[in-house]
Amino acid sequence: MRRGAGTLKKTRIVVIGVGAVGSTTAYTLLLRGRMDELVLIDANRDKAVGDALDMNHGLPFVGQTKVWAGTYEDCATADIVIITAGAAQRQGESRIDLLKRNVGIFESIIDEVLKYNDHGILLIASNPVDIMSYFSWKKSGWPTNRVIGSGTLLDSARFRYLIGEKLQIDSRSVHAHIVGEHGDSELPLWSLANIAGTELQLDEEAKQEIFTNTRDAAYQIINAKGATFYAIALALDRICTAILRNESAVMNVSTLLKDYHGISDVYLGVPCIVDRQGVREVMQIAITDEEKALLHKSADKLKDLIKSISI
Ligand code: NAI
Ligand code: LAC
Repeated sequence: MRRGAGTLKKTRIVVIGVGAVGSTTAYTLLLRGRMDELVLIDANRDKAVGDALDMNHGLPFVGQTKVWAGTYEDCATADIVIITAGAAQRQGESRIDLLKRNVGIFESIIDEVLKYNDHGILLIASNPVDIMSYFSWKKSGWPTNRVIGSGTLLDSARFRYLIGEKLQIDSRSVHAHIVGEHGDSELPLWSLANIAGTELQLDEEAKQEIFTNTRDAAYQIINAKGATFYAIALALDRICTAILRNESAVMNVSTLLKDYHGISDVYLGVPCIVDRQGVREVMQIAITDEEKALLHKSADKLKDLIKSISI
């Protein structure tokens, strides 16, 4: 019996780099049935082939998604191309230490994607993600709304979890933002943090402990198990869902700032409205002078690093 030929375009997500983050992200997308077609690409083709085989064997448990190890030609009809390829931090390394290696890797990846796709959305996770997103935007020449970094969505989730644990409140009911670099210069917007619109009942010591544990979470996890991948996979799934379902959801992804509290020409994690076109709008938020100064410090750090790479 012929499967329904169907004339509707099938949704397709391509994951480039199916290592710890990419394979966990692909598996998360599959579990949640986010797309019709899931394509896995990796420099280590055996890994992509093995992951596709392994996931296909689980389809009877989760429902029909077409999963295969593909090539860059399969990017042609992709709605979203997720890039999780590249070097990851080893113990003692910062995300910034990955910059030169991952720019080199992205040089070829972006060229290959652009050979076949000129309409999709690039979703960047590889670190340092804000600079890798800026690089991808510059190199692709695509409009900035279609080149998105995972930004501080993961950091904000960690922040909300830790606040929820401290106050014994479901983290989904904790509204709190980490903005800036996805990295050591990120900052908490305590002035906006709330539960049901009410200010958080936390003293300064608790706030400092929560933020420090948020900012340094990756180091703790990498020291313990070598890499982080579950929460970032869920964050990337969240972004893909907002895009594919045209949600207009607000999330702290990394986007190009243009005179944002006086900051321009750098990708940073800030509250954005995400829909089928990618970043529809950067949300203007009121922040304190202290928070603004820290955001500028984060931006200046990344702008200096951007100068160090040739695009
Ligand atoms: P990994 O080493 O497990 O996987 C990287 C994969 O990329 C490998 O399978 C490798 O074969 C592949 N790869 C390398 N060069 C390639 C190329 N030119 N084309 C296609 N595939 C290529 O590393 P992991 O742990 O998955 O991390 C991947 C990246 O994600 C790292 O840069 C890491 O720092 C970043 N990351 C970002 C997070 C975020 O919040 N944005 C959170 C966690 C990790
Ligand atoms: C993180 C690092 C790896 O998990 O970017 O935040």
